Amino acid sequence: MKIGVILGTARHGRKSEHMAQLVFEQLKKREGVEAQYFDVKDYLTCITNPPEEPNPKSEEWKKHVLETDGFIVVAPEYNHSYPGELKILLDEAFKEYEKRCAVVVSVSKGGFGGVRLVELMHQLISTLKMVPVPSPVNVSKINDVFDEDGKLLEEAYLPKIEKMLDQLLWYAKILKQGREQG
Ligand SMILES: Cc1cc2nc3c(=O)[nH]c(=O)nc-3n(C[C@H](O)[C@H](O)[C@H](O)COP(=O)(O)O)c2cc1C
Repeated sequence: MKIGVILGTARHGRKSEHMAQLVFEQLKKREGVEAQYFDVKDYLTCITNPPEEPNPKSEEWKKHVLETDGFIVVAPEYNHSYPGELKILLDEAFKEYEKRCAVVVSVSKGGFGGVRLVELMHQLISTLKMVPVPSPVNVSKINDVFDEDGKLLEEAYLPKIEKMLDQLLWYAKILKQGREQG
């Protein structure tokens, strides 16, 4: 099973990167999983590239989506929503997402853990015809969760990540079987 971690911000000094890396490391420990890391920074085009107007970047993204069974989107909440660069990337494919699944790890420096981002992401994930996995991880006060070097300080996030992975892998497996059966 192939699972992709998407880091959804390209901001200089982004703290979400620490969480995306941690999630990726935990995912790699799961048996039978091929983990892949997608950094939105590697796909920046600054303009919307709809799937029906192909260009090399969007063709590459569509290929990745087809090969991936489920996504973990790690992203900060920006003005109660998702970063623009994440939306531009996700908009580069459409039919390729169908009958796959995605879970959200929302990151915030405040106390609300990016809950508003999760609501909007679930709408977006559904619009892309994926199943939104109902076990998001909300990360509050990100500056207290990791030190400057990205070392985890709040171990309480580990079981939350494991629970999220359990759920995602369950959905990804069932959906993969369903797609294979037609
Ligand atoms: C443009 C912008 C808008 C933001 N809006 C919110 C917000 O709506 N809610 C929130 O909790 N934090 C908000 N933040 C702060 C982020 O929580 C903070 O930057 C945190 O470190 C996670 O984002 P990062 O990965 O960019 O570091 C915002 C930050 C930026 C740059």
